[in-house]
Amino acid sequence: MRCGRSGPSRSPSACWPTVPEAGLAQARDARQSPRLSAAETRHIARAFLPERAWGNRRDYYYGRSKLRHDPLFEGVLHWLPDDDRPVLDIGCGLGLLAHVLRQRQRRGRYTGVDVDAGKVVRARRAALRGRLAQVRFDAVDAQAGLPAHQGHVVLLDVLQYLDPAPQQALLEAASACVAPGALLLLRTPLATGDRRDHTTRIADRLAWLTGWMGTRPRHYPSATALEGRLARAGLTVHPPRPLHGRTPFNSWLLVAERPAAPG
Ligand SMILES: C[S@@+](CC[C@H](N)C(=O)[O-])C[C@H]1O[C@@H](n2cnc3c(N)ncnc32)[C@H](O)[C@@H]1O
Repeated sequence: MRCGRSGPSRSPSACWPTVPEAGLAQARDARQSPRLSAAETRHIARAFLPERAWGNRRDYYYGRSKLRHDPLFEGVLHWLPDDDRPVLDIGCGLGLLAHVLRQRQRRGRYTGVDVDAGKVVRARRAALRGRLAQVRFDAVDAQAGLPAHQGHVVLLDVLQYLDPAPQQALLEAASACVAPGALLLLRTPLATGDRRDHTTRIADRLAWLTGWMGTRPRHYPSATALEGRLARAGLTVHPPRPLHGRTPFNSWLLVAERPAAPG
């Protein structure tokens, strides 16, 4: 199943619609702003401070900068229904999303998985410091399989670290975890061949070379390949919309929904 136009939409209004799109399982309340305030950002980042004053503050500054300058989490807050369904965050990194969800009173069980065991340890520590309820983190290679899950699924800035065939397999596995009426939110760079595409490839490679990312980027998918895979997995796919804000990166958001069971 597929809806809307095909190919990435370049309309700015497609990024932050003020009215809910027809066909989405649950209407979003346009009055509830997804914007994170400076105070919210600081509060979350504090959970990533080192135990001792002279400890490494890399995660703190990274978290603060990411939350303030990247519209990713605001995009997730905008689209993710506030319905207490469990959320599976594949390639969760430091688990910033868990903090954002809890700060906005989203109470659905949260599971974050990441192949980087070091990040998982730091994510667990920050979740404990932030006193996040019903949150767990596990070291999992998503290419080897996903934990049992039925609910919403998010896959944020992860796909490009996999080769084409594993990308397709992961999309299939992730789709199988989406419950009827629930969503898959997928943010990824796309192979658009423009300046943003080139900037993103260079930045991803640098992140790997400097050791920030443990895995090297492998493949930048096309919108058509993603939409086709998700549609074959039974999801209704909405056209990709830009989700890069003022960053120079080529970030796109795909929203896919498993239709609710009849009756
Ligand atoms: C750019 S970071 C994004 C982190 C997080 N999703 C966010 O948006 O803040 C990409 C993450 O994907 C993880 N990753 C890459 N390949 C993976 C795999 N095969 N299985 C699980 N996680 C993976 C990396 O370890 C890294 O934490």
